[in-house]
Amino acid sequence: MSTAFLPGSFDPMHLGHLDVVDQALEIFGDVVVGVMHNPSKPSGLFSPDARVDLVKATVGDRSGVRVEAFGGLAVQAAARAGATVIVKGLRTMADFDIEQQMAQNNVALTGIRTVFVPCRPDLAHISSRFIREISANGVSVDHMVVPAVAAALTAARGTGAGS
Ligand code: PNS
Repeated sequence: MSTAFLPGSFDPMHLGHLDVVDQALEIFGDVVVGVMHNPSKPSGLFSPDARVDLVKATVGDRSGVRVEAFGGLAVQAAARAGATVIVKGLRTMADFDIEQQMAQNNVALTGIRTVFVPCRPDLAHISSRFIREISANGVSVDHMVVPAVAAALTAARGTGAGS
């Protein structure tokens, strides 16, 4: 069994992310979901603490999954988490272009390799950005997220901010 590190912004976590967690669990047996503070995306909807809570609510009682917040580089966070591999889900060629460059940087920096898993075709259209946009306009995203995330999105709409 190896520990896999699955980094992301998770703002918020959705069913596409959950599928990648399940694939990583099946392959590696032990998964740390790293909720990253991403300086290139400073204007998140949910706070890092709220995102961690929503990731925990999404993964539920799966054994072999830990959820933690991290700053810095994904490879530094992976090393701190005791992971030997980073896992990323790929939806499109656009995902591949950026992810390949990150993977090449990461293995050159630390030797930690990245394994890509293809996302389920029926979930390929889902993204956190579109979920935020759809929900902000009052349209249900219940088919894309677990109920706790749907409720948090509805609450965020009410207050005009993430929790
Ligand atoms: O869910 P996202 O927003 O697509 O996740 C992107 C994320 C957070 C995984 C990625 O930007 C990341 O790993 N950021 C941490 C900083 C880092 O490691 N940058 C790569 C340098 S090669």
